[in-house]
Order: sequence, then structure tokens, then C-alpha cells
Amino acid sequence: RKADPLRIMISGAPASGKGTQCELITKKYGLVHIAAGDLLRAEIAAGSENGKKAKEYMDIGKLVPDEIVVTMVKERLNGPDSQEKGWLLDGYPRSSSQAIALKEFGFQPDLFILLEVPEEILVERVVGRRLDPITGKIYHLKYSPPETEEIATRLTQRFDDTEEKVKLRLQTHHQNVEAVLSMYKDITVKVNGSGSKQEVFAQIDGALTQLEQKQGKLGTVV
Ligand code: AP5
Repeated sequence: RKADPLRIMISGAPASGKGTQCELITKKYGLVHIAAGDLLRAEIAAGSENGKKAKEYMDIGKLVPDEIVVTMVKERLNGPDSQEKGWLLDGYPRSSSQAIALKEFGFQPDLFILLEVPEEILVERVVGRRLDPITGKIYHLKYSPPETEEIATRLTQRFDDTEEKVKLRLQTHHQNVEAVLSMYKDITVKVNGSGSKQEVFAQIDGALTQLEQKQGKLGTVV
């Protein structure tokens, strides 16, 4: 057990690469990946009441109400694995009310990563995105094609990954992003998310290594 595991938030517009970077971050740093969107899609797949309600909002690119999302995320953050290994919170908080609730529950991140990607790139990333339902891995028809024919034939597309729906999701993002950023200004690192996924990861990896070194040093001071 690490004495002081990392607590990281990652934010950015729809399809800015949050999920892709989280795959690379968890692989190297062993943090527990908690993605609000994935938790909501799991509720939909389970056919729960919360899932049915959430889908109505996700279909129109709006934020799912706090009464559904806040408890769901809090429970995962409180899980023994997150407490032990540290956490990587993806796509949460997305509003000042969510950020305030987190603070009240005592969840304070060490670093807030903001992925910055020009809007014209985002639409292309969304419409080309595919998911492997077996491994959960994220692909892109052009930028991250599946490794084998077998994987290619089983890939699925998200119901909100159309050009029309991503425009609505972008609008919601623009309405809320400033309020969230203002709460984490002091610990924000802005990352240029328009390069290749390895180029983007190199920037994040640099910031996380630095953070670990800083915390390691602090940890030795008794
Ligand atoms: P969510 O699932 O979080 O969707 P999102 O924020 O729109 O983000 P995405 O998952 O679309 O993109 P990503 O940034 O993870 O990109 P990815 O790595 O896949 O939320 C969905 C909905 O749930 C919301 O609209 C809302 O209704 C609801 N919701 C979620 N959180 C909520 C909250 N906190 N409160 C209330 N409601 C909430 O990459 C995209 C594509 O690009 C992939 O194909 C990938 O292969 C490719 N790609 C990635 N990086 C690169 C690169 N560097 N170069 C080339 N291609 C790349």
C-alpha cells in the first residue's frame, strides 16, 4: 500500500481524449479509473431506473441530474481500491455543484489535467470512435484502428457519437467548463491534446512524475 496515493482529475471537451489517456495513465500508475460516463452507461445497460432517466439527458447531450451522478461517483471514490491505489476521475465534476459536493465529501485532487483540443478535430474524433465491448478499449477508425479483423467485426459505436449530438455535448461543455476550472485553478495543468496519443501522454506523464517526486520528498519530512 502506498502511503499517499495520487488523486487526479482529467477534464476536457467531448472526445478530447480523456478515456484514451486514462488507459495509458492507469497502465503506468495503477490508479483506479472512475469515469462518470462509463458508470452511467453501465446503469443504462443494467436497465435500472437511474439508467433510464440518465439516458434521456445523455441523448440530448445534457448533464445528468446531480441526484443520480453525485452518489454514484462518491461510492466509487470511497471504494477500498480507490482509497488504496489512488484515483483518476474522468469527466467529473462537470458543474460547480458537483465540484462543491466533492469538496464537502473531502475529495481533493492533487492535480487537475485539462486537455485542450481545437473544436474541428473533436467532431472527427467522435464520429470515427469505436469501442470493443469485450475489452472496453477505445479505437478510432483512422487514428487508432483495431489490431485484428476479429476485433474489427465486433466493434460498437456509442449512441451519442453522431455529429448532431456531439454539437449538443459541446454546448453543454462550454456552458459549464469555466465554473469547474475556477475551483481547481491552483492545481491545473493544461495539456495540448491535439498531437498523437503518445505525444499527449508524454506531457501528462511528465506532470505526474513531477508530482510523485514532490510528494515523495514531502513524505520523507517527518
Ligand atoms: P462521457 O462519456 O464522459 O463523454 P464525453 O465527455 O463527451 O467524452 P468522451 O467519452 O466522448 O471522450 P473522451 O474525451 O474520453 O475521448 P476518447 O479518449 O474516447 O459523457 C457522456 C454523457 O454522460 C454526457 O454527455 C452527459 O450526458 C453524461 N455525463 C457524463 N459525466 C457527467 C457528469 N459529471 N455529470 C452529469 N452528466 C454526465 O477519444 C475520442 C476518440 O478520439 C477515440 O476514437 C480515440 O481513439 C480518438 N483519440 C483519442 N486521442 C487521440 C489522439 N491524440 N489523436 C487521434 N485520435 C485520438
